[in-house]
Amino acid sequence: MQEITIRRPDDWHLHLRDGDMLETVLPYTSRHFARAIVMPNLVPHIATTKMAAEYRERIEKALPAGHNFTPLMTLYLTEDADAEDIVSGFHSGEVTAVKLYPAGATTNSHSGVRNIETVYPVFERMAEAGVTLCVHGEVTDPEVDIFDREAVFIERVLEPVRRRFPDLRIVMEHITTSDGVDYVKSAPDGISGTITTHHLIINRNAMLAHGMRPHYYCMPIVKRESHRLALRKAATSGNRRFFLGTDSAPHLDADKESACGCAGVFSSINTLSCLAHVFEEENALDKLEGFASLNGPAFYGLPANEQTIRMVRRDDAIEFPGSIETKSGPVTVFDPMFPLHWDVVA
Ligand code: DOR
Ligand code: ZN
Repeated sequence: MQEITIRRPDDWHLHLRDGDMLETVLPYTSRHFARAIVMPNLVPHIATTKMAAEYRERIEKALPAGHNFTPLMTLYLTEDADAEDIVSGFHSGEVTAVKLYPAGATTNSHSGVRNIETVYPVFERMAEAGVTLCVHGEVTDPEVDIFDREAVFIERVLEPVRRRFPDLRIVMEHITTSDGVDYVKSAPDGISGTITTHHLIINRNAMLAHGMRPHYYCMPIVKRESHRLALRKAATSGNRRFFLGTDSAPHLDADKESACGCAGVFSSINTLSCLAHVFEEENALDKLEGFASLNGPAFYGLPANEQTIRMVRRDDAIEFPGSIETKSGPVTVFDPMFPLHWDVVA
């Protein structure tokens, strides 16, 4: 039996939602992960430090007894954002990062940014204070094909912002293309990229080639195989600029299996088993700790976790549930389409 021990991982991009959904999904993250960057795209969105503090308290209240987990809060950037509130929230430790959603890019992004230049004064203050900008890197111009949104965002938005604010720390979240990989690799220091578990495992055929699979529908949309391979290479390369952000994003099945289904893959339950499988396939199990536990804290200037987790490779496949129950109905669990053998045991 093989086994590995790594420092406890963190999830640098996570949707925990609120209310019943929060209570149901949080334990699947907090039993394995020590910290997570919590996305602010609730309704209403988390716009101020005060709202972030209240949301953090709701998360802490929902934590199962004995779970040791720290939510790292983010603010949702709007065109009328208050830069002073962002900076004071950051200095007080309540706010870890600010999230840029281009308006209309994904779930609850309608209050996001339409014209990037309107938030340049906010970026200026963030750059001075050292506040990280987490970016949903897709343009929403209807003229741009959905599969090209990330590459066009790099050219039209990200690179101009980076040039104008060279000191601004930026995480290009959930990169999905070789363009994203190349950009992060070749950018100056201060730019990183997160990669989700599911984008390492599925390509667009999984979503579209054998019937339309709404549970593989997410934003940014899964791309062609060559992009998936580029992501796997980046994640398993040991390059410190790449780290894990699962983007686990639960929606009720009824909302996904619909004529206009929601984007999001719920993977927090089996993410570590999936990742160990991927890293083993790439002969890179020794790089898993960097990707899941070390590179993220190094970028955010936080200490790596002292605790460890141990994973063992079982001969029999592990039985994960196909879905979990919430009070409002089931939520389907990410299906990697291969048996999972790596189990977190401690
Ligand atoms: O697939 C996604 N789901 N991508 C996002 O950017 C948002 C998320 C959600 O909140 O459901
Ligand atoms: Zn997300």
